[in-house]
Amino acid sequence: MAQKVTKVAPQLGKASIKDIVAAMTLEEKATLVVGAESKASSGKLADGTAIGQTDKMVPGAAGNTAAILRLGIPSLVFADGPAGLRIAATRKDDNTKTYFATGFPVGSSLASTWNVNLVEKVGKAFGNEVKEYGVDILLGPGVNIHRNPLNGRNFEYYSEDPLLSGKMGAALINGIQSNGVGTSIKHFIANNQETSRGSVNAIISERALREIYLRDFRIAIAGSNPWTVMSSYNKLNGTYTAERHDLLTTILRDEWKFTGFVMTDWFGGKDWIAEMKAGNDLLMPGRENQIKALVDAVKNKTLNESVLNTNVERILAVILKSPTFLKYQYSDKPDLKAHANIAREAADEGMVLLKNNSKALPISKSVKVIAAFGDSFYNPIAGGYGSGDVNKAYVISGNEGLLDAGFKIDTKLAGVYYEYFKNNKELMLPGITGVRPPGILPEMVVADKNIEESAENSDLALITIGRNSGEGEDRKLETNYKLTPEEKQQIAMIAHTFHKKGKKVVVVLNVGGAIEMDPWQSDVDAILLAWQPGQEAGFAVTDVLSGKINPSGKLPDTFFEKYSDVPSAGNFPGTPKDKPEQVIYKEGIYVGYRYADSFNIKPSYEFGYGLSFTDFSITNLKLSAKDFSGSIMATAKVKNIGHVAGKQVIQLYISAPSNTIDKPAQELKAFGKTKLLKPGESQTFTFRITAADLASYHTEKSQWVTDPGKYTVKAGASSRDIQQKASFEVPKSILVETDHAVLKPQIEFEDEKPTTAKN
Ligand code: BGC
Repeated sequence: MAQKVTKVAPQLGKASIKDIVAAMTLEEKATLVVGAESKASSGKLADGTAIGQTDKMVPGAAGNTAAILRLGIPSLVFADGPAGLRIAATRKDDNTKTYFATGFPVGSSLASTWNVNLVEKVGKAFGNEVKEYGVDILLGPGVNIHRNPLNGRNFEYYSEDPLLSGKMGAALINGIQSNGVGTSIKHFIANNQETSRGSVNAIISERALREIYLRDFRIAIAGSNPWTVMSSYNKLNGTYTAERHDLLTTILRDEWKFTGFVMTDWFGGKDWIAEMKAGNDLLMPGRENQIKALVDAVKNKTLNESVLNTNVERILAVILKSPTFLKYQYSDKPDLKAHANIAREAADEGMVLLKNNSKALPISKSVKVIAAFGDSFYNPIAGGYGSGDVNKAYVISGNEGLLDAGFKIDTKLAGVYYEYFKNNKELMLPGITGVRPPGILPEMVVADKNIEESAENSDLALITIGRNSGEGEDRKLETNYKLTPEEKQQIAMIAHTFHKKGKKVVVVLNVGGAIEMDPWQSDVDAILLAWQPGQEAGFAVTDVLSGKINPSGKLPDTFFEKYSDVPSAGNFPGTPKDKPEQVIYKEGIYVGYRYADSFNIKPSYEFGYGLSFTDFSITNLKLSAKDFSGSIMATAKVKNIGHVAGKQVIQLYISAPSNTIDKPAQELKAFGKTKLLKPGESQTFTFRITAADLASYHTEKSQWVTDPGKYTVKAGASSRDIQQKASFEVPKSILVETDHAVLKPQIEFEDEKPTTAKN
């Protein structure tokens, strides 16, 4: 009698990916490419987060893929970022412990460190929490360009400059992924505003895309190999990014050699079949009708099953290296104490000292009692809200920080604030875990008599200005970007009263993005930009105020004098104004300092700017050759010529000849940060500059070309504090790369070009 052979299904990890795919039913394939929210019994979690079956896995995680147990395919767990792991801190079925994660400084703060090693260290600690809490892929970092300061999510992102953004993104990814967990670099691309983010059509020239908006992703991906990419919500030149084959396959895979998978942003894109074809492999968080739609599409031949096979293969390849697949026994006990120290170190180094007249900082030893004004001194804003928020165990307040360092605060004034908070509890910060904005407590206005009294009872005024923003809406120009009339008046009054008594006035900015600095800044002696510095806020601010840490942060953005000076001001958030359908990036490549420097605009504070308690010199800029061939080495020396130890950032800008196409006055091409240099100590840097670094994108040929002519290398401590110059010649045109002629805008428009002489 012939024996009946029962075929055992191949198992992932034992059989090849091809064999697994061959064994999958069409239904199973469609199930894998649709996030498991589609199969969730309940749509929402207790704390309101949207989210598949993660309540049974890691509560509060953002989503997961479907498991196909028959083939040994487990479910991958995804959770947000990027300022720390975002999961629920408590669990319904377990009141014996908490699941807090470290609240690291936000992206703008990390970028201000200009310290890739430090950001990688943050990533390492961060990724350890991802792994120890049972998550496979962290949904971050976000590297969208700071096109306009009003973008509500700029705090999550890094900079207006693609090199700085890309390097920071790579550093964080390398750190996180060194733990054996994955990341999802997001939001690919041009999600540079929250207003109408799900539908707005961003119209961008090919050159601006290549040189600015794609470039930072390219640098980050080349430097770190993220496991996944998240496409953005918006349309780009007429089509949703998630549906663009030219973006997700031609550029990302063919040109850049990305090998991981692409997922949508949550509910992003509209045409699921187009998404699959484009190379957007996974639809998140997944909807029941998506599985059926894909199955039907294959059956009725509008989707070739081979496309689905490719999508599935890419997801399986990532699953194979995931902690869940490898059955990692996570502890739910990361070393939060050690990570808090790293969060503090990063927050310290991200602080930018903007102003320091007559050495108001560090606070003089004679100052014993500090009068602390500002809601966010007592309740610091650790980070913005929305999916970029973190459920951290605590946030160190300003007073905890100052007291810990041996200062006293004016308790009477503090009492006025506490009373105000007590009476307005309902307006305080309930939004810490939700995607909704936290309650907006209006800044308390301190009565003149209280100001007089505190000027009498204390030795220094410390005014903290707080700003919050987050997912789903952009910052309001009048009340968030600008200081309100009440705030300005309060600063003037405090300054006047304290100065009359010969006492100094220091402002701390607890903000996620650029704000208007003028004219109020002339009222005060010192300004420290602390950003949203994470859970160690109060300690980190005090570290710099007290002089324990010498500030070494540099601006990752231009702080324009007036909003109308911002190059995208006239085209943000698009038209029609109340509900924008399209936004034209008219400024083209002239974003941030590229605009300010080329159009002769004087900002309040320029890109790359930041003071120190010591002085540095940058000298001995030397180039390895006069004529460029292959690459050129630039060497320069940074020396601490002041009296206290400190760190300095050396920034290398290059001005390129504009004989073929217009070029920005200068562009950042390399940077480095010193170790802690003692007075008199120096450090030499060598940067290698390649033809690719010098090339511009010539749209009509779809080519990156290094034009012939004179290139000036400028070494400085900011984009305007250039201390050394040297030049070299490129003897003849160098063709660096030919790209595909894709992503063309659907309408004709000219990017803005500088008409005035460059600086
Ligand atoms: C955000 C993403 C986030 C996702 C999952 C979306 O609303 O735009 O950045 O990763 O939600 O929470």
